[in-house]
Amino acid sequence: MPTLPTVAIIGAGSSGIAAAKALHERGVPFDCFEASDRVGGNWVFDNKNGMSAAYRDLHINTSRDRMQFSDFPMARSLPDFPHHTQIAAYFDDYVEHFGFRDKIRFETSVQRTEQCADGTWQVTDAHGETRAYDMLVVANGHHWDQRWPEPAFPGSDAFEGVQMHAHDYRDNRFLTGQDVVVLGMGNSAMDIAVESSYVAQSTHLAARRGAWIVPKYLFGKPMDQLSTVPYVPHWLSARISEAIIRLHTGRPERYGLPRPDHHFGAAHPTVSGRILDRIIHGAIAPRPNIAQLGPDWVRFADGTQVHADVVVYCTGYRITFPFFDEGLLAAPGNRIELFRRVFAPGNPSLAFVGLLQPLGAIMPLAEAQGEWIAEYLRGAYHPPAPRAMAADMRREDRRMRRRYVASARHTIQVDFDTYLARLRRERRRGAARAAAAGRTLPVPARARAGEAAPA
Ligand SMILES: Cc1cc2nc3c(=O)[nH]c(=O)nc-3n(C[C@H](O)[C@H](O)[C@H](O)COP(=O)(O)OP(=O)(O)OC[C@H]3O[C@@H](n4cnc5c(N)ncnc54)[C@H](O)[C@@H]3O)c2cc1C
Ligand SMILES: NC(=O)c1ccc[n+]([C@@H]2O[C@H](COP(=O)([O-])OP(=O)(O)OC[C@H]3O[C@@H](n4cnc5c(N)ncnc54)[C@H](OP(=O)(O)O)[C@@H]3O)[C@@H](O)[C@H]2O)c1
Repeated sequence: MPTLPTVAIIGAGSSGIAAAKALHERGVPFDCFEASDRVGGNWVFDNKNGMSAAYRDLHINTSRDRMQFSDFPMARSLPDFPHHTQIAAYFDDYVEHFGFRDKIRFETSVQRTEQCADGTWQVTDAHGETRAYDMLVVANGHHWDQRWPEPAFPGSDAFEGVQMHAHDYRDNRFLTGQDVVVLGMGNSAMDIAVESSYVAQSTHLAARRGAWIVPKYLFGKPMDQLSTVPYVPHWLSARISEAIIRLHTGRPERYGLPRPDHHFGAAHPTVSGRILDRIIHGAIAPRPNIAQLGPDWVRFADGTQVHADVVVYCTGYRITFPFFDEGLLAAPGNRIELFRRVFAPGNPSLAFVGLLQPLGAIMPLAEAQGEWIAEYLRGAYHPPAPRAMAADMRREDRRMRRRYVASARHTIQVDFDTYLARLRRERRRGAARAAAAGRTLPVPARARAGEAAPA
């Protein structure tokens, strides 16, 4: 076996550890840089890295069996939708079980990466140390850089109460007795509005667009475990799901929520077993979008106005890579072109893990991506020719644009089962290409493992 390329992984959240485990098992040398003092990223409440959005009562909304890694099942004693502490412990156990903790550089944030002319990377951490690597695998997460309404709503400067982003929400204690406006129809808005509704004087849920609200359980099973057939056409399974939701709960507008301007499946799922209940109890008042703020009020698009002490913007996240040289790669409007959401076209020594938004959980997909990258680094997978790759990306982009509501939250969507099935097929094809080419290494080993770069 030739000397294998050395790899720097950025991040030891669930995606980074999935990639690390795949490289570890296949003998690919790597360092995993982690800003925090522990693994688990978003799932570590009050994470030292300041990047976790977890709130005290957060439970996963993709079920346990959908979220677990394929070779490390979650304990059957865990509930179907475990608490964040159980999820964080699971990721920690994963690292312990597969024995690669010593390859994670904790409390070592990557500040800057620079790609040299030969494709190798200079990785500089917050301690000022620079090391050289052949390959960069980015797993820095995409739910930490707050997206606020742009432009801000008129009058938001004059608002004298609290305006905050969902990312900073920890629990509902500070909402006690307050008049609260929650903006958004994603999962953060659902959870925070529900929590607010138990302690606030009033809770208003404002939205610019309606959503189909999916219960966590249906027919006695977690909803995301009902359909697992990869090649049923999306439109068909989406129509069936929509019909089931309509039979089960009725249309969202029956609850005073905005009527969805799309069919089920054209937006990232909004999952909540509790929001409709709190609305029909009168504890949450649905509203249209915010139109304007005053010193102590919020006016909505329909002209109604309410007193407000707190506005919580559950308006999503931006995809950013603060450690990249300007001009190397960015995701304006959250759009980023990657082959099967992993490989950067035209840059054989750059890959991403977990940079996708599935209808289902991220973890098993990150696991498959990690294995794919490891095969690639060992010469056991060869990518298609650049033109074929570009055509594939264009097709995928067209498909996703046709299918999803135009929004910055729908730029990296994939279908869980279809994505895995297509990745398996691509890995087989790439293995055949690699075998035909004599398993040469697509990324040659030039940098020396973890060695400090020359000054
Ligand atoms: C409130 C909330 C609930 C969610 N619930 C679910 C769910 O139920 N199911 C699901 O599948 N997904 C869910 N998600 C999506 C979430 O993105 C994933 O669960 C998961 O956290 C993705 O893991 P990750 O490793 O890609 O990113 P993260 O968990 O964000 O981890 C990224 C890691 O990279 C590290 N890092 C970042 N930058 C650097 C740097 N420069 N140097 C060194 N280290 C760095 C961070 O410290 C962190 O440890 C949720 C997201 C939010 C916000
Ligand atoms: N319990 C859980 O497991 C849980 C809890 C919270 C979050 N999450 C996950 O975390 C991720 C992020 O979720 P999120 O809810 O924070 O963000 P999100 O899914 O991106 O939703 C953002 C919401 O804000 C709206 N919005 C954005 N900009 C707006 C603007 N300028 N004015 C009015 N509305 C605006 C969006 O509307 P448009 O659709 O019109 O763009 C959308 O309804 C998702 O993957 C989600 O599943 C999971």
